[in-house]
Amino acid sequence: MYASCGTWFYQNEAVTAPATVDVEAKIPALTSNQLNKLRHEAHRHGNYTSYYTFRSQSVPDPRLTQLQSFVQGRRTLDLGCNAGKLTLELATHFAASQVVGVDLDAGLIAAAYEAKRVALSEGQKVENVTFEEFDFANTWPFQGTAAGRWDVVMLLSVVKWLHLNNSDAVLVELFKRLFEIVAPGGYLVLEPQDWPNYKRAVNKCPSLKENFKKLELRPPFTETLLNGGWEEVDGWERDEFGFERSVRIWKRPANGEQ
Ligand SMILES: C[S@@+](CC[C@H](N)C(=O)[O-])C[C@H]1O[C@@H](n2cnc3c(N)ncnc32)[C@H](O)[C@@H]1O
Repeated sequence: MYASCGTWFYQNEAVTAPATVDVEAKIPALTSNQLNKLRHEAHRHGNYTSYYTFRSQSVPDPRLTQLQSFVQGRRTLDLGCNAGKLTLELATHFAASQVVGVDLDAGLIAAAYEAKRVALSEGQKVENVTFEEFDFANTWPFQGTAAGRWDVVMLLSVVKWLHLNNSDAVLVELFKRLFEIVAPGGYLVLEPQDWPNYKRAVNKCPSLKENFKKLELRPPFTETLLNGGWEEVDGWERDEFGFERSVRIWKRPANGEQ
């Protein structure tokens, strides 16, 4: 690529630039390895823009079908909602009474609102779905429509990212805060990534290594959750190719009101 320059004036002195500048020669080309590293750094929160091209594209997502009895007719908060695919399906396929999706990536929240706009234009019932942009691991109390009490809070394929980007203490604090905002008798739905999966993420994104080395808690965080007052009421393994993760249902006991 060549950019042509010319003559311009600086403090009344004519300055003549070379006729052309070889721009590409001045920007060293990146190797595919370097490009890959940049890509992984840009997605260090799991904020992939095309997540549902490598995850199941079924509508509704099979994870939600399995969760039907937990979410139907309930106020549901979807933490780490990405581009809102599941968040919208909670309303369109499972009649959740209100749904809010939260993500820290502004581009993904914009994509989620665009998906809502398209759904509305097709006559789908998604008026009760909103999205909020903030970092739910470091924001308290939750903002906007995400504020208040919830019947169900979902953490699907997101805990690894907030854990790697923060610390054990932040994760423990989050579970504690979620216990406070889930109504007694309500649920926390957890799809934790396993420990080998953390290692793969760190290999791809070396800037996470320092935090990773300090982590002592391990998924699926059973002891931490039990100590926090949660009660494990259900759970199952899943065989989605490349995402063989368990789903665990934790309940805030009905007598857990404080
Ligand atoms: C791998 S995607 C999972 C999307 C969806 N939950 C699912 O399972 O299909 C994780 C999403 O969580 C978001 N995320 C990660 N850490 C977050 C945080 N601390 N606060 C808000 N969003 C976060 C990322 O931006 C990303 O969109």
